[in-house]
Amino acid sequence: MCGIVGYIGNRNDVGSLLLNSLKKLEYRGYDSCGVAGISDREILVKKDIGKIEEVDKKLDFSSVKGSIGIAHTRWSTHGGVTKENAHPHLSNNKKIAVVHNGIVENYQELRNFLKENGFSFYSSTDTEVIPNLIEFEMRNGKNFEKATIDALRKIEGSYAVLVLNADEKKLIAARKGAPLVLGAADDGHFVSSDIPSFIEHTKDVTYLHDGDVIIFGNSLKIFNLLEDKEVIRPVDTVEWNIEQAMKGNFDHFMLKEISEQVETIQRAVEQDKSIIFEIVQQIKEAKGIFFVACGTSYHACLTASYLFSKIAKMHVNVVVASEFPSYEHFLTDKTLVIAVSQSGETADVLEAVKTAKNKNSKIISLVNVMGSSLHRYSDQSLMMHAGPEICVVATKTYTSQLAILTLLIYALVGKYEEGKKELKYLWNLIYNLTSANIRERIKQLSERLKDSNHIFLIGRGLQYPTALEAALKIKEVSYIHAEGFSGGELKHGTIALIEQGTPCIVFVSEENEKEIISNAIEIKTRGGYIIGVASKNNEVFDFYIKVPEVGNTNPIAQIIPIQTLAYQLATLRGFDPDRPRNLAKSVTVK
Ligand code: AGP
Ligand code: GLU
Repeated sequence: MCGIVGYIGNRNDVGSLLLNSLKKLEYRGYDSCGVAGISDREILVKKDIGKIEEVDKKLDFSSVKGSIGIAHTRWSTHGGVTKENAHPHLSNNKKIAVVHNGIVENYQELRNFLKENGFSFYSSTDTEVIPNLIEFEMRNGKNFEKATIDALRKIEGSYAVLVLNADEKKLIAARKGAPLVLGAADDGHFVSSDIPSFIEHTKDVTYLHDGDVIIFGNSLKIFNLLEDKEVIRPVDTVEWNIEQAMKGNFDHFMLKEISEQVETIQRAVEQDKSIIFEIVQQIKEAKGIFFVACGTSYHACLTASYLFSKIAKMHVNVVVASEFPSYEHFLTDKTLVIAVSQSGETADVLEAVKTAKNKNSKIISLVNVMGSSLHRYSDQSLMMHAGPEICVVATKTYTSQLAILTLLIYALVGKYEEGKKELKYLWNLIYNLTSANIRERIKQLSERLKDSNHIFLIGRGLQYPTALEAALKIKEVSYIHAEGFSGGELKHGTIALIEQGTPCIVFVSEENEKEIISNAIEIKTRGGYIIGVASKNNEVFDFYIKVPEVGNTNPIAQIIPIQTLAYQLATLRGFDPDRPRNLAKSVTVK
């Protein structure tokens, strides 16, 4: 959620540099944006609500010159979406500017304290306490570096911050609980929420740890607040390039990422076998297993729980990460917590993992972003290897999660090769599922559904989480109300909403064909318009989407056409599927 980026170096066009970087962070979701630079020892701030393109047109970010600056896309948590609340925020003496991602939990207390000391506030954000706290510390005779470190020590909550000092022309960056990476280019340093914002300038990145404070001076130094000493962090080289992070020939990242599944599922399965087996061992040794995740990643875990039961005859707990506190008392040093997260930065997941760590439980994660907080907090990680997922909604990473979890469960029962064979068979079919032909066919369906008020989705067994995930995809990008149910459950109430023509998507597998078709008939009898996602047509279907019958990998095959449907619905209704309203790519607040 939100993006921050800063630059310090030899170039003199910081405004246009940051504008370009900021655009690469748009996918994270935001409501306002801004840039600050230094001109004659004064801080120049340009900010407003709205899209980067619109704000830039109005304010001309490129007119900010100089070789040092900070920029922000805000996803508001405290204070409405207004120009005053947009970042950067200034200290009272206008010498310090701050951009911030996260939440200052004790901001009221700090604000009151600062007010008592003569400070005024011009926004209703939590963030504005930060530059003023630094000014306060400096008024007490501390230099910029010491004042910033001491101010950060007083802040409770989560942050990634960039702090600009006009007098000294200095930049400080820090993180605790929110993402921040450093990029070292030939002509300067970038510090940002995510790599795409500077990858065209450098592939050398340093992943920062919680409590790290980077002080940019003649030489660069990293001080860790928690360890209370200077630290050295390794420089890694990122494997992917800007082309991969860009749209290519596709109109939207969502469509590009749906199409990439031909490749990403394969990459997910071609994992280092030894890591899978190490994790299998941990699963065997554990007394109690908890899967924790949110949103789409949660649906992948729910699917895995059905596979654990079906293939391994084993019970696992699946908990939405924000509900994990209710399960805390079950945790021991023998518990295994498997956290699944594309971004590795989801605050609810990180919180759950911290709780489990405090109880000495083992943490295994399945993540896509190397160097993310979750990746680092885990005892062991499995990588999704899906490449950067730019669209706010998850598509390719969902099927990567499913593929890896399926393989893991097969490996658990000594059938690693069999699992791999099934997945290989599946990935050869993915091309068809993402082909232009299927897209055309689904377009016809989208035309039929585009003005619907509701879409219901049902599935039994493995198809139940598929129904939940498919509903989430439709809601997120098309803003049509969609709700997934287990096949048997709709008749316990929601069937009351079925009217003449109400669309209902029915996921069918060989295993539960009879039962789910009966449920479809119940809906059709009340006037429902039945869309079958199945390997064979059925007279109850008003519209038929053909998918192969692939047993335990059905959840992967069956979600893909509905990802496409969600995409088509969004574009037909005139919405940008890459940047759905109110959503952020990684939800870094609780
Ligand atoms: C998916 O389309 C979402 N927008 C959202 O539900 C997401 O899956 C959730 O926020 C979890 O994200 P994570 O996998 O990065 O932890
Ligand atoms: N809490 C801050 C605000 O509401 C920062 C939000 C963000 O992460 O963009 O302004």
